[in-house]
Order: sequence, then C-alpha cells, then structure tokens
Amino acid sequence: MYNCYNFWRSEDEKLQKPTEKQLNRALEISERIIEADVFHVTLTGGEPFLFGKNLEQIIKLYRESNVGIRINSNITLANDEICDILMEYNVGVLSSIISHDEDQFNKTTQNKVSFKRFVKGAQLLSNKGIYLSANMVVNKSTLDSVYDTGKFAYELGFKGFNATRISPSNNGMIQNYDSLILNNKDIVILLDQLMELKSDFGMQVGTLNALPYCAVDDINKYGSIFNRSCVAGLTSAGVASNGDLRACQHFDITYGNIFERPLLEIWAEIPIWKKQYHNDTCTGCAYDFKCGGGCKENAYKINKDMAGEDNLKKDTIKNNKKTKISSFDPVNSVQLKRDLKIRDESFGSTLFKDPSAYAYLDNFTTFYIKEKYPIRVLNRNDLVFIGSDIGVDNQYVSALFATLINNNLGRDGG
Ligand SMILES: C[S@@+](CC[C@H](N)C(=O)[O-])C[C@H]1O[C@@H](n2cnc3c(N)ncnc32)[C@H](O)[C@@H]1O
Ligand code: SF4
Ligand code: SF4
Repeated sequence: MYNCYNFWRSEDEKLQKPTEKQLNRALEISERIIEADVFHVTLTGGEPFLFGKNLEQIIKLYRESNVGIRINSNITLANDEICDILMEYNVGVLSSIISHDEDQFNKTTQNKVSFKRFVKGAQLLSNKGIYLSANMVVNKSTLDSVYDTGKFAYELGFKGFNATRISPSNNGMIQNYDSLILNNKDIVILLDQLMELKSDFGMQVGTLNALPYCAVDDINKYGSIFNRSCVAGLTSAGVASNGDLRACQHFDITYGNIFERPLLEIWAEIPIWKKQYHNDTCTGCAYDFKCGGGCKENAYKINKDMAGEDNLKKDTIKNNKKTKISSFDPVNSVQLKRDLKIRDESFGSTLFKDPSAYAYLDNFTTFYIKEKYPIRVLNRNDLVFIGSDIGVDNQYVSALFATLINNNLGRDGG
C-alpha cells in the first residue's frame, strides 16, 4: 500500500475509478467503523480522490456520526466538485508532496506532469479555503530539500508540513532501501529544517512516523515532534479495502476481517505492539513506556525481528525531561480544553482531543469529568472530597492532573 507511486500515474489513465461494488464496500466499511464508536478516521489508499463526487457519501456518513475525518491524497485529481464536498463538510487534506523541484518530483513519481498537476490541485484547494497540510517522505536523496519543499508548500497555501523518514516498505516495489534510509545524523538535519520552517513561517510542523526518543541528543529542541510513538494496537488500526484489520497501516499483518467478525472483537485481540514487541535494550530507559523503541516496522525490516532495534535507536535516557509537570507539582485545578470527546470503556473511558492528545481514565475520574465537563474545571479539593470514600487522595489527584496537562487535554487552572 505504501510507496504507491502508481497513484500518481493518472497521466496515462492507468488509474481506474472505483466501481459501484467498491464504493458500496467503502460505505459498508465506514458503517462498521462508525458502529465501533471510533473517534477519528483518515481516508487513505490508494487514492481517495478517485471516488470523485461519490466521496460525499462516505464523508457524510462520518460527519453525521460526529466522527473526525481527514483525507490523505496526492491531490492531482482535485476538481471543483471535490472541493465543494470538502468545503461543505469541512474536511482537511493531508497531501503527499515529493519536492519543490519539478524534475525531482516528476522523476520520483515517474510521471512528467505530476508536478504541474500537484500545483494546480494545491491552488484549487487552497483558494477554496480547504485546510491543507503536506507530508514529504524523506530519503537520503531528498534530505537537503526539506526546508525548500516546506517553503514551497507554504507559498502554495499549506498550513502544515510534515517530513517523514522513508519506511522500508514491505510491498516489494523497492528491493533495497539501504541507500535511502536516514541515519541519526540525517534525522537531525531533517528535524532542524522543520524547526526552521516553524520559526520562519509559523507552519505546524511534524513527522508522521514514530522516532526513538534517543535518536537525537535533545528532544526538547523539537517541540511536540517527539510526542508520537508506535500506535499499533494502542489507539489506531487500519482497515484495508477488503475489510482486513491491521494494527499498522504500513504492514500487511492482519488480525481478522471486519466483514466476518465485529471490528471491536478483532480489535480486542490485537496486541499493543510496543509492549508485545518490546526491545530489551530499552529496559530502564526513562521513556520506555512512552517511546517504546521507535517504529516496529523499521525494526522488522532492519533486523527481521519486530522486537529488534529501530535503526535510529541510540542509548537509553536517564531522566525524563519531556513532561510539562511532574505528579509532584502542586496544581490546584485543571481547566480542560474545549471540544473533548469522551468514550466509555471497560476500565472507565478514553478522553480524546485529537490523535496526538488523549488519555485513559478510570471510572471515578470518568464520572467526575462527565459531571464537570460543561464548566471544564477540575478542582483538587472537590475531587478529594467526593472521592475520599474510595481512596482518592492528593497523590491520586496530582497524578491525574499531570496526565491531563502532559497529554495536552488541559492546563493549570491555578
Ligand atoms: C500511501 S499514501 C496514500 C494516499 C495518497 N495517495 C497520497 O499519496 O497521499 C499515504 C501516506 O503514506 C506516505 N508514504 C508513502 N510511502 C511511504 C514510505 N515508504 N514511507 C513513509 N511514508 C510513506 C505518503 O506520503 C502519504 O502521506
Ligand atoms: S510499526 Fe508502529 S510506529 Fe511503525 S509505522 Fe506502524 S504504527 Fe507507526
Ligand atoms: S532507549 Fe528505547 S525507549 Fe528509550 S528512547 Fe531509545 S528507543 Fe526509546
């Protein structure tokens, strides 16, 4: 599925529009995802814009059920009809971008007109005010052009820019990744260019694949970039077009088919990869729980072992400097962010802001937040008073406040 440069080849009409059967299957998959009470969906592929005006049927289903939605596209097929749908339902687009350089762009996509089509698509979407962010998959040969490509995206109207190290894809299209994969020196060059884009143009910058937290000397230089970690089996899953449920979108390991069994039943059987495939050399690291060793796909491709080392892993880290507050800080109240979603779970609930800001709550906190959410303020004394019968004390509240603040779900309310 990844590295599908076929999906840039609309020039010679190699691409087929989805058939009615394929559209119906996409709609059925969407219904099953909605039934499972999922917070957020990314339509990817393949190329979602191939659905043309039928995209509306899919998007409408999610929007009507209050499920967040975003589309990954190469945007070369953008037209007025698609723009109108995206505008009406307020759907943002994450577009692949290859390079600011026309030759490099067209060579990579093996399509002489892909750059021009990309620019036309970007102008169309941006003029209509659709939120655009870009993802540049970076390999050794494009490493030096991250800043220029981000600047180019900014000038085209992109608000966000991600530079993601190339994953050693398992689709067999590229046999040897040795000359493409980034090393620790390269990743610093990539991240420094991202930070420059942020400071020069105020762009939202990021990287879409988990990086080991020890890949660089100081993660605090890179804002929220190191908030990510492997989400496989934890918060995210991918559904292939035939209904197969995968823990990781890059990897075709499947755990069952949602047309044969309920999605939630299969989901319950997917292990949390960063736990299941724990790399023993991470034991004792201050970030072991959060980072969990980087990307398991990378580890597999490099070592033929999912529990092996990510190629960017260096040494364990002694002190955890990343958290905004520790559970010893005397915060008296927390003001929760607006528009949080809460979903009941067997252990309590999940509190969700966006795919990078969420927390798991126990039954007591769930009850309290549900009661208090309209005013959005959690008060220490109040929590201790109400929860004293079941053992809620100052230590419990401090840990809860640290979780909410460090996970960007709230701020110190004084
Ligand atoms: C496979 S594409 C499919 C959606 C759409 N056709 C597009 O080009 O954005 C989904 C995302 O995967 C990223 N991607 C593709 N190949 C990759 C690779 N080898 N490593 C990391 N990310 C990759 C793309 O940049 C894009 O953001
Ligand atoms: S293995 Fe984990 S970190 Fe790597 S791509 Fe898959 S979900 Fe992301
Ligand atoms: S030692 Fe392991 S857990 Fe610690 S930062 Fe490095 S990869 Fe992550």
